[in-house]
Amino acid sequence: MTSTGRKHAEEHRSGPAGEVREIAVVGAGVMGSQIAMVCALAGYSTSLVDLSDELLDGARDALQSRMDRDVSRGRRARDDVDRAMERLRLSTDRATAVSECDFVIEAAAESLEVKRRIFEDLDRETPRRTILATNSSNIVSSQLADSTTRPDRVLNLHFFNPALVMECVEVVPHDGTAETVVDTSMELVRSLGKSGVRLRREIPGFVANRILGAIRREALELHDAGVADVEDIDRAARTALRHPMGPFELMDLVGIDVVHLIRLAEFEQTGDEGALPHPAVRRLYEAGHFGRKTGRGWYTYDDS
Ligand code: CAA
Repeated sequence: MTSTGRKHAEEHRSGPAGEVREIAVVGAGVMGSQIAMVCALAGYSTSLVDLSDELLDGARDALQSRMDRDVSRGRRARDDVDRAMERLRLSTDRATAVSECDFVIEAAAESLEVKRRIFEDLDRETPRRTILATNSSNIVSSQLADSTTRPDRVLNLHFFNPALVMECVEVVPHDGTAETVVDTSMELVRSLGKSGVRLRREIPGFVANRILGAIRREALELHDAGVADVEDIDRAARTALRHPMGPFELMDLVGIDVVHLIRLAEFEQTGDEGALPHPAVRRLYEAGHFGRKTGRGWYTYDDS
């Protein structure tokens, strides 16, 4: 193996990271549930927490059918999947689920108020050693850290959609995050078989979403100006740039609601009117066309 090949293999080794044994993910939406599955597949005892059994049942069904599909396509072994499913506990009782865990990843609604309340509660419910991370890409952890008594153990750990597939995880400390907490988080990311991108300082959107935002803005402007249709702009990104998806297809995958709320959060943080959601995105949001999850966004999807 070449040294580059070896480095790559080491970076992507899988299995529990030193001081982290038990993980809890708060929020069983598409992101939270897939992040929890990634943790369970990597060998961690994992809890996935949300407010209702209905939400948790929906998450379990979606994960089970993803896993069954992976097994039937020969991508995963049935034993590995079954063991991971056993390691994954779903619960509406957050206080009990997090009471022994070493690392919490919050993936709840993209609202500062909601997240601050969750962090305040988690601070009471978890042991002092527990690292509290948010999966948010726009609400930076310095906005949450002071709702806890352990600001040095708070940071952003940002996964990409679909989390089961995408390799990148951005690790973003705020000024007061302890260096050891960043190191443990990077080690955790490696142990999940992911590739960690460590930011030197906070900035809303971080690195990947800021690059993506520039592409998305340009695509929306080209569309507005009547230069090309949605399908053709997407086709250009796929076939000329080899992006796996065009910018409009990607908005539908991530969710028009998520795209819209991320822009609003950025506007609220910066006061920059340029950060406001694009009018066409706002129109889809207001019509409840959130993309794949509602069957309609830039494109229309049938149930199958
Ligand atoms: N969840 C889990 N796994 C999925 C998936 C999903 N939603 N969609 C696809 N996959 C997996 C499946 O294993 C699938 O194979 P099967 O259909 O046989 O089960 C495999 O990926 C290949 O999928 P497809 O053949 O349907 O299509 P593809 O080869 O184009 O891959 C993709 C799908 C991985 C989503 C790929 O198109 C891709 O990488 N797209 C870009 C995704 C991206 O840019 N994500 C970042 C978004 S930004 C973000 O997330 C940040 C934020 O803060 C909002």
